[in-house]
Amino acid sequence: MSKDYVDLEDLPGVGASTAEKLREAGFSTIESIAVASPSELSSAVEIGESTAAKIISAARKMADIGGFETGDRIFEKRKQVGKIKTGSDALNTLLGGGIETQAITEFYGEFGSGKTQICHQLAINVQLPEEEGGLAGSVIIIDTENTFRPERIKQIAENRGLDPEEILKNIHVARAYNSNHQILLVDNAMELANRLKEENNPVRLIVVDSLTAHFRAEYVGRGTLADRQQKLNRHLHDLLRFADLYNSAVVVTNQVQAKPDTFFGDPTKPIGGHILGHTATFRLYLRKGKGNLRIARLVDSPYLPEGEAVFAVTERGIEDK
Ligand code: GTP
Ligand code: MG
Repeated sequence: MSKDYVDLEDLPGVGASTAEKLREAGFSTIESIAVASPSELSSAVEIGESTAAKIISAARKMADIGGFETGDRIFEKRKQVGKIKTGSDALNTLLGGGIETQAITEFYGEFGSGKTQICHQLAINVQLPEEEGGLAGSVIIIDTENTFRPERIKQIAENRGLDPEEILKNIHVARAYNSNHQILLVDNAMELANRLKEENNPVRLIVVDSLTAHFRAEYVGRGTLADRQQKLNRHLHDLLRFADLYNSAVVVTNQVQAKPDTFFGDPTKPIGGHILGHTATFRLYLRKGKGNLRIARLVDSPYLPEGEAVFAVTERGIEDK
C-alpha cells in the first residue's frame, strides 16, 4: 500500500453509501469499527449481523487488533516510549522523566490547581525537539469547558523564545459539547492523527480537559452511575487505544472539590473512581500552595515511588519554584 492507513471503503463489502452511513453513526475509522460489536454495527447502518461481523473481522485484521502479541514485540514497543518534559524539573523527576507516551496521565485537583495550565504547557513542549524535552510532534486538545486560550500559548511561547505562530499551528483543538460528542471526538482525532502522520507531523499528545465535567453534569443521581462509569470506561479505552496506535501521550484532567459535596460521595475521591484508577497509568493529585505555587503528588503509580513536587505557574508557564 502506498499510504499507511486505510479508508472505510477499503473494507470488503463496504461501498460508498455504507461508508457514509458508518461515518454518520460515528464509525469513522477502521479502529472504531474493529472494536465495535456486530449488533452495534448492524443497528447503526442497517446491515445484517453476519455482514457486520465480516466487516469487523476485516477491520481487525487491517488495524492489527485483537491478536496476541509476543513479549519481545511488547518489549520493542515499550522501547519506543517517549517522554514530554513539563517545564519543571521537580515535576519531571516525580514523573520519572516526564509525561509518557503509550499511557494515560491524569491530573486531578480542585479548581485553580493548575490542571489546565499544565495542559497548555505540554501542548507547547511536545513540539520541541527531543533534546529540548519534547517529541517533535503535534497535539490534539479536546476542550470540554472552553478553557483553551491561544493567548496563553502565545505568552508562554514568547517568554521561552519560541515562535508562537508555529506553535499554535500544531495545536488542534475541538470543543466537546456533551459527553457523547466528547467520545466521538476521539474517532475524529484518529482520522486527524492518520493525516498528520502522513504529513510527517505525528500527534504525540492528546489532551482531554476536562475528562469528567460533562459526565458529571449529565449523570446525576444514583441510578445513572453505572451508566456513567461504563461510558467513561469505554472513552478511556478509546484513549488508551489512541496512545497505543500513535505512540502518543494521553493527558486528562479531573476536577475534585475540596469542600464536601453532597451530590457525589467522598469529595477527595475523583469522579471516575475505580475504573479511572485502573486505566490511568499515572495519577497526579494537584493542590494549591502559597501564591503561584502548586503541589503535585503522585498517587498509585505502578512502578514509580510515591512523592510530591512543588512547581510554579508563571508568565513562562510551568516552571520550578
Ligand atoms: P479548573 O479547570 O477550574 O478545575 O481549574 P484548573 O486546575 O484547570 O486551574 P488552571 O490550570 O486554570 O489554573 C488557574 C491558575 O493558574 C490561576 O489561579 C492562576 O494562578 C494561574 N494562571 C492562569 N493563567 C495564568 C497566566 O496567564 N499567568 C500566570 N502567571 N498565572 C496564570
Ligand atoms: Mg481547567
